[in-house]
Amino acid sequence: MPKISLIAAVAENLAIGRNKELLCRLPNDMKHFKEMTLNHAVIMGRRTYESLPNGALVDRKNLVLTSVPESFYDNAFACYSIEDALQLCESEDEVFVIGGAMVYKETIDMATTLYITEIHHKFDNADSFFPEIDKNIWKEISRQDFPADNKHEYPYSFVTYIRK
Ligand SMILES: NC(=O)c1ccc[n+]([C@@H]2O[C@H](COP(=O)([O-])OP(=O)(O)OC[C@H]3O[C@@H](n4cnc5c(N)ncnc54)[C@H](OP(=O)(O)O)[C@@H]3O)[C@@H](O)[C@H]2O)c1
Repeated sequence: MPKISLIAAVAENLAIGRNKELLCRLPNDMKHFKEMTLNHAVIMGRRTYESLPNGALVDRKNLVLTSVPESFYDNAFACYSIEDALQLCESEDEVFVIGGAMVYKETIDMATTLYITEIHHKFDNADSFFPEIDKNIWKEISRQDFPADNKHEYPYSFVTYIRK
């Protein structure tokens, strides 16, 4: 069984999305996400897959959760349960759950690591949220802080949590 990690960009109030899209674009976070997930398996919900601007993520094994039988996705495996998806990852060392809200909620109790990009801004009109990160369960082990700049509208931090 591979190690299960969640990776997410989370704003204040645990907001992660709005109207089927991300809340904002932070180029350094996109780069970080790519570096972390490249050559690994990524598990995502059907709505997150549909929100990807260029379809399946290249150089990663894409696993898309759906309850609709006989679904087909370009360059991705359709999986009908979390267990189905994990079965396809038996040879992996680490599997990344990349969202969205529904899938994070379903998998956080199975995860051993959370890679959270904190976006230091409150988005009032968010409609998708990350589950609570219970500090009795999760221990912060690293944090890198970055200010806003001409390419990044908001300050942000890369934070890693491991299960206590
Ligand atoms: N900030 C971030 O890091 C981040 C990352 C990813 C996504 N997001 C945002 O999150 C939002 C989307 O989240 P969401 O909760 O609406 O959707 P989602 O979690 O991406 O997808 C939900 C869908 O996945 C399928 N699914 C989930 N669990 C399943 C299971 N156990 N078995 C079978 N199928 C399962 C179902 O598809 P069917 O309806 O086909 O059955 C369900 O409707 C968007 O706004 C997106 O931009 C943010």
